[in-house]
Amino acid sequence: MRQLPPEFFRTPYAFYEQLRAQGPVHQIQLRTGVRAWLIVDYDAAREALRNPTIRKDPHTDTGAGARREGAGESGVGAVNARLSYHLLNTDPPHHARLRKLVTPAFAPARIEALTPRVTAITDELLDRLAAAEGPVDLMDEFAFPLPITVICEMLGVPAADREQFKEWSAVVSDITLADPARMRVATDAIVAYFEDLLARCRAEGPGADLLSDLLTASEADDRLTDDEIISMAFLILIAGHETTVNLIGNTMLTLLADPPKYAALRENPEQVPALIEEMLRFEGPVNMATLRYTTVPTVIGETEIPAGELVLVALGSANHDEKRFDAPDAFDADRNTNGHLAFGHGIHYCLGAGLARLEARIAISRLLERYPDMRLAVDADDILWRESVLFRGVLDLPVETTKSP
Ligand code: HEM
Repeated sequence: MRQLPPEFFRTPYAFYEQLRAQGPVHQIQLRTGVRAWLIVDYDAAREALRNPTIRKDPHTDTGAGARREGAGESGVGAVNARLSYHLLNTDPPHHARLRKLVTPAFAPARIEALTPRVTAITDELLDRLAAAEGPVDLMDEFAFPLPITVICEMLGVPAADREQFKEWSAVVSDITLADPARMRVATDAIVAYFEDLLARCRAEGPGADLLSDLLTASEADDRLTDDEIISMAFLILIAGHETTVNLIGNTMLTLLADPPKYAALRENPEQVPALIEEMLRFEGPVNMATLRYTTVPTVIGETEIPAGELVLVALGSANHDEKRFDAPDAFDADRNTNGHLAFGHGIHYCLGAGLARLEARIAISRLLERYPDMRLAVDADDILWRESVLFRGVLDLPVETTKSP
């Protein structure tokens, strides 16, 4: 049984490399006591994510009990049950039904149409940075507020309620570490809030927001139930927030830690989309947050995982697998990143990938344009990474927005 080494959160890649050298599948114990099977190779990761017997809901087959056991220790069990009827908790055939109903709201044309609003929100936040005297924390002042503001606007959450949303989101986003009592309070409040918003949406008639889309979504005679709408809104809030925050943060850290790289990109802003794709591979925001359970004994690589076991796919390791990507620990914006697994693989492939790419593209492009002389205010090695097995990102990113005198 492997344990995560202390330096894992600063840099997980050496540990992943060691594991890959010993095989594609390992048993690990997390600091919370939760035990899991960790998949570290690229091919095995894709195989596991596509395997129909490795499922999200262990109760649909012989895996009953696994989720309850893991959940109790991790705080997942404290989540209000009415928030659990969403895509990331469901398996076929139910998953396909839900996915069909919500996919139109994320159609590429709908996402592209958000460009002016995302740009305006980005510029408003960047205006505020200009007023700062001395170093500012780019995470607090920019990377965090941008995605949460975009998502709240998409969901139709009034501006006055957004601070409250940020707080709830912070509590529930790190489900392996959160305190169960705080988790319960926050998720009860989220249920009550969305119930109220949904009631208002019904009374006033659907608007141009995502909650209205979910309310009116239909396929033949099928409709989402209220619990499914509330759960989906919750998933979008969480999945669409922490991840994009870290994509922006990790990208800026990588660029600012290497000033010539930042300068070169400033001269060639058309390279931003390729750079973001390599960033997703190199330092993707989802570390191993791909919870699944075996429902029958399942062979991955040459290892048989018994039924009812928790399986985590280490996307960060798969994306650094030397058998798939040459010199995987080198950041190379010119490489072919096709097939990276930062957004997952198979039926649960990220629904918000288009939105995440749009936000990151606009955020990085506008930062380059508005703050061409931005630099780190501390040594890159002194920046602290979050101690999360789910998300990969930094706690703070102190920067100077202008040239030093
Ligand atoms: C699923 C990553 C942004 C909504 C996933 C999965 C990953 C992922 C790895 C699959 C998890 C699994 O298989 O267990 C990311 C990353 C993002 C990002 C790296 C940003 C850089 C977003 C955004 C939204 C979103 C902006 C929506 C506003 C979803 C949803 C699912 C999902 C709804 C579940 C899909 C399903 O189960 O069918 N994401 N995500 N994500 N993501 Fe994202």
